[in-house]
Amino acid sequence: MTNKIAPSILSADIMNLERDVKMAENAGADLFHIDIMDGHFVPNMSFSPSVVEGMNRVTDKPLDVHLMIDNPEEYIKPVVEAGTDTVLVHAESTHHTYRSIQMIKQLGAKAGIVVNPGTALENVKELFPIIDQILVMTVNPGFGGQEFLPGMTKKIQRLDQLRQTSATNDFQIEVDGGINDETITKCADAGADIFVAGSYLFGSDDFEGRINKLKDLVED
Ligand code: DX5
Ligand code: ZN
Repeated sequence: MTNKIAPSILSADIMNLERDVKMAENAGADLFHIDIMDGHFVPNMSFSPSVVEGMNRVTDKPLDVHLMIDNPEEYIKPVVEAGTDTVLVHAESTHHTYRSIQMIKQLGAKAGIVVNPGTALENVKELFPIIDQILVMTVNPGFGGQEFLPGMTKKIQRLDQLRQTSATNDFQIEVDGGINDETITKCADAGADIFVAGSYLFGSDDFEGRINKLKDLVED
């Protein structure tokens, strides 16, 4: 399994989004992470399915949609039709996580579950055999530029151990929030495979230098 770096376009320059996406692609982005927020599930608003459609027009890289919204079931079909490869649903946002994952897969996309820092892995264990990805939030969701919560390293470690307990647990571990050249190593050592990074990459005038640094640190 190869480790992957996923720039989060939440921290890109919204007025120059296409320029930033091309820059990230040329610098070696493996996929793009798109945050969709509704101002209810999290105290912020961001992109909509139309941005997913636009992203799909300007890049051939896979798209990873992180739904931070109430009633995520209502937006699964729109984002898959807009061209995303993966849809990630928060465990805390629906009573019907199993059904949401089934819906995503029936539409032909890859499916992932997301756990907030305070959500126990045990709450999503039954989904392990049917998910492609699990996203461990390493900050409280809603904003870019926050500090990595150090306690999450142990959680990733436990998740990696749980993954190894059954041959049907064939999912990738993704981390999102506060990823930089120090925290990425901790997450990689703990067993993570996909690393979302927003402000660390787009907040610098040396995007290429920074993504190369992250790639070197997690090379497997
Ligand atoms: C936060 C979002 C992240 C955000 C990460 O809720 O889910 O994807 O863009 O930003 P950084 O890397 O700056 O913490
Ligand atoms: Zn995200």
